[in-house]
Amino acid sequence: MERVLGYRPDELLGRSAIDLVHPDDARAVARMIDARRDVPRATASLEFRFRHRDGSWRILEAIGRNLLDDPTVGGIVVNSRDITERRRAEEAVRNILESIGEGFVAIDRQERFTYVNRRAEQLLRRRRGELLGRNVWEAFPEAVGSAFFRECRRAMDEQAAVRFEEFYAPLDAWFEVRAYPSPDGLSAYFDDVGERRRADERLRQAEKLTTLGSLISGVAHELNNPLTVVTGFAHLLAGAPDVPERVKRRLGQINVQAERAAKIVKNLLTFARQQPPEQRPVRLPELVDQALDLLAYQLGVNTIQVRRDFPAGVVELAADPDQLLQVLLNLLQNALHAMAGIARERVVSVRIAPAGGRVRLEVEDTGPGIPAAILDRIFDPFFTTKPPGQGTGLGLSICYGIVKAHGGDIAVENVPGGGARFVVDLPIGVLPAVPPRPAAPAVAQGPATDRARILVVDDEPEILSLLSEVLESSGHRVSTAANGRTALERIARGEVYDLVLLDVKMPEIDGRTVFEELERDHPELARRVIFSTGDVISDDTREFIQASGRPAVMKPFVSDDIERVLRTTLANLH
Ligand SMILES: Nc1ncnc2c1ncn2[C@@H]1O[C@H](COP(=O)(O)OP(=O)(O)OP(=O)(O)O)[C@@H](O)[C@H]1O
Ligand SMILES: [Mg+2]
Repeated sequence: MERVLGYRPDELLGRSAIDLVHPDDARAVARMIDARRDVPRATASLEFRFRHRDGSWRILEAIGRNLLDDPTVGGIVVNSRDITERRRAEEAVRNILESIGEGFVAIDRQERFTYVNRRAEQLLRRRRGELLGRNVWEAFPEAVGSAFFRECRRAMDEQAAVRFEEFYAPLDAWFEVRAYPSPDGLSAYFDDVGERRRADERLRQAEKLTTLGSLISGVAHELNNPLTVVTGFAHLLAGAPDVPERVKRRLGQINVQAERAAKIVKNLLTFARQQPPEQRPVRLPELVDQALDLLAYQLGVNTIQVRRDFPAGVVELAADPDQLLQVLLNLLQNALHAMAGIARERVVSVRIAPAGGRVRLEVEDTGPGIPAAILDRIFDPFFTTKPPGQGTGLGLSICYGIVKAHGGDIAVENVPGGGARFVVDLPIGVLPAVPPRPAAPAVAQGPATDRARILVVDDEPEILSLLSEVLESSGHRVSTAANGRTALERIARGEVYDLVLLDVKMPEIDGRTVFEELERDHPELARRVIFSTGDVISDDTREFIQASGRPAVMKPFVSDDIERVLRTTLANLH
């Protein structure tokens, strides 16, 4: 007594023990004694706080035995030990386990819950009371056989720590679990890592697109020049008077196929280029109508009804109209393809619903919907279920890139009863104070007799010879220079030109340098420059051309394009 509670025996003799029990515990102690008082030899155990001689409270674990009928004792014998330190240590551990941000559970060797912290209650959506003492696999029967089950068993069998991530469908959550075996069982820390996994997935997708993008733009760029030459010469030949009809027909075929290839290249470049979107005021309903107009013929021949569900007011957002039009066309075209050949009523519904600072755009069809097995792949570049030659599988990845660049989201769901619904969610953004895009300058209908002296500068001999032939066939006089240096030399020699068709990207002295030298030494000629660019140009180059104020033609070009730009440029000079 003295060791545990500090009292000398004489200090206690004759005092009521109950007086020294903590008031909150006194009643329980009294009740227990009362219940056993008339039962000889009865024992009972209890935990209660008892006042130490120094005034502090000690926690005692006591076992009492009724020996009132024993003549040598004649009382209740209480054996007690001080478990204050143990309780304190336990409390400290509990505080730690409750304070960690992760879920924590401990299970014994029979796989019963012996500890469940508060975070674990939240993550598992169960109260501790429901779990403590229960077998894990009885409490969570769907987990039997899953990675949770296998890994926890392995940890116990092999007495080795395990770490894994697994999706648990009944709770619709991805858990990361670390489990550590001990001789008593297993302790496991776990957390919901769904958000991190989604972020990783987005990053992976973005990285994939960037890598692919640069690969594709390289390849597409390499294809551009040969295609320009093929289409250019085929056009030229088809228009020549001395070519027999039979040959012309074949040239026509060459043209159609080359143009198809050029279109694919263009698609690839749109996908790869990922230009930052412009921010102009765009009226979404008008843009949808524009897309529907462009597809009116195809919608008509496939007897597809269109339902518009637009709100009454103006729906305007800051966006890139060309890019959004592309998104709409791709989604509508997919809907159209999905419904071709189905017996059911064919309806495409377009819904616009502003909500807060965002606008939701839905394109829904009554086609077969998208099989669950491919749902998470349809936005991947080159994923297509269409037969070879009919789809590049780029439509949706282009949509994805554009929508993301606008700070929006695109998702797909199947409609109950059949059909797919694409949901695009766009921020309204800050509407810039710029006026809508000015109309394209009117094409100057300059006299076709404008015979111009033209210097063509391009490092590709095939392009040079094509351009010479095209331009000469329309009556111009053409000189060529295979690089920037030759061009500058010719000009320095005093050769006179009405126009300079200048390739931007050339080795050594590029178009930009040539232009800058002209601006400095021959400003009159700088006003006569038309840039020709490959399809892949850097932001830098685009800005440079814009700042130069000079027109540009883009490869692959057709002779009509060039002629139009030439005429406009010549007309503007006068
Ligand atoms: N509305 C839809 N209904 C059913 N399946 C669709 C729908 N839209 C897209 N898909 C599926 O997603 C795939 C990928 O579409 P995506 O637009 O990226 O490429 P594509 O249409 O096959 O080819 P491309 O767009 O280059 O012509 C399609 O092949 C099709 O399987
Ligand atoms: Mg498509």
